[in-house]
Amino acid sequence: MSVTTVPTTPYDDQKPGTSGLRKKVPVFQQARYVENFVQAIVDCIPDRAGRTLVLGGDGRFLNRAVVQITLKIAAANGFARVLVGRGGLLSTPAASCVIRKHGAVGGIILSASHNPGGPDGDFGIKYNTANGGPAPEGVTAAIYARTRSLTEYRIVEAPDLDLDTLGETRLGDMVVAVIDPVADYLALMHDLIDFDAITRLFAGGFRMRFDAMSAVTGPYATAILEGVFGAEAGTVLNGTPREDFGGHHPDPNPVHAHELYDLMLSARAPNLGAASDGDGDRNMIVAPGLFVTPSDSLAILAAYAHLAPGYAKGLSGVARSMPTSRALDRVAASLGIPAYETPTGWKFFGNLLDAGLITLCGEESAGTGSNHVREKDGLWAVLIWLNILAVTGRPAQDVVRGHWATFGRDYYTRHDYEEIDAEAAGRLMDGLRAKLAGLPGTRLGGLTVAAADDFRYVDPVDGSVTEQQGVRVTFAEDARVVYRLSGTGTAGATLRVYIERYESAPDRLELPVADVLAPVVAVAGELADIAALTGRSEPSVIT
Ligand code: G1P
Ligand code: ZN
Repeated sequence: MSVTTVPTTPYDDQKPGTSGLRKKVPVFQQARYVENFVQAIVDCIPDRAGRTLVLGGDGRFLNRAVVQITLKIAAANGFARVLVGRGGLLSTPAASCVIRKHGAVGGIILSASHNPGGPDGDFGIKYNTANGGPAPEGVTAAIYARTRSLTEYRIVEAPDLDLDTLGETRLGDMVVAVIDPVADYLALMHDLIDFDAITRLFAGGFRMRFDAMSAVTGPYATAILEGVFGAEAGTVLNGTPREDFGGHHPDPNPVHAHELYDLMLSARAPNLGAASDGDGDRNMIVAPGLFVTPSDSLAILAAYAHLAPGYAKGLSGVARSMPTSRALDRVAASLGIPAYETPTGWKFFGNLLDAGLITLCGEESAGTGSNHVREKDGLWAVLIWLNILAVTGRPAQDVVRGHWATFGRDYYTRHDYEEIDAEAAGRLMDGLRAKLAGLPGTRLGGLTVAAADDFRYVDPVDGSVTEQQGVRVTFAEDARVVYRLSGTGTAGATLRVYIERYESAPDRLELPVADVLAPVVAVAGELADIAALTGRSEPSVIT
């Protein structure tokens, strides 16, 4: 089999963001676009000779084609072996698990997470390093620099491989092993979670619905929930991965998973509702009649994690992204363990996890995870919830209400202004930054500013500094507003405004969220002059 060196010219827009290179499908369909980027990644893996690479994606449109190209480029660049999920599938957490378990040098994950798929949708390519986590800043910067200087790529000329049959084949000097995408992940979950207790829970009549949103978690959830635990057939909804996610937006929130959400709020609700996103790293949890915010879910998991065998010794520490509500901090304080606050994006948890400073971490954007892999893990969160319900014997809604009774409640909402003009978004953030110093002590719509800053993170492990990670304004009335621009959008800019308020009085734990937050929302809009600067009177998405 011959290796061909193909001359190429660089593209100048291949800068990986927090979650890899994410663009519209037609961008990836340009001549040599995928080849260039994959070669740039490979060039930044200097120790690749004789090593194993992991490869798979969330099954969206282009997944199979890009798997084929990546295999051929890998074969021409000295890897000994590629482990690829059957059908080209691997959920993001499963890819992280496989990288770690097999001592791979890294992995290439094809996904645009919760963004829509299909010919007009989004696609993405992400590189994870040997610890199983997203490539750190230094590596993504090197990849970007390489994309700008590339003059050729190397590829083997060969017919496409059969991705649907388990087993090994050769591509030039390289072995391609098509693996069961679920097996390693299932074994890991078996080590961490009390499978017997959950099996008994389902045998006792417990019912749930898991919405896989026609994305990658279908095979995982079906194998574990229906296959291992014996949950009734039909427990997993939309369980077949589709290239366009059935035309849906595979983002597990009350807007995009509204069928599940509506079911859970109806009289026909089963005992638990859950969903995961395109690539399987996010989760949504809904108790009968009660949506569990991701920030609350994270705090509850931290409070009860010791009930799962993998966490029986307790947690070394916990971490949350800065915009995530402070509910987690209250649990950490009661457990007497440290709580870290990191910038948005999973990669910031990696150092803390690798150093053993934390066991559990999460983000308000429906990501929760632990030291078992180096990505957030949607199905894992659902399994921990099941473990908690099985061991305590309490209904999910009681667990949530009990949590509020003990710790108080952090009312929380996020307002997204999507596809706004990028320059206007920049002006809005600059305007806020210019005001920060003068804010403390100011009265705004009945609230008093206690502190205001632009979040700056100093990594406790390597001392690296990350600036401008979001403007945060806290109020003396136990309220907080955070503003930041999304790093994952593919069109224009997205402004995210995170709004929260803490209440602990027993008669203030079950108020309508919108009512509690209304004054804070009003102040948030006024302070940043959102309507005038973005031309939007309402957010595009409220979660
Ligand atoms: C969003 C979420 C963030 C998450 C990231 C990747 O990033 O807010 O928590 O880590 O997606 O899933 P953003 O678009 O806000 O930059
Ligand atoms: Zn995702």
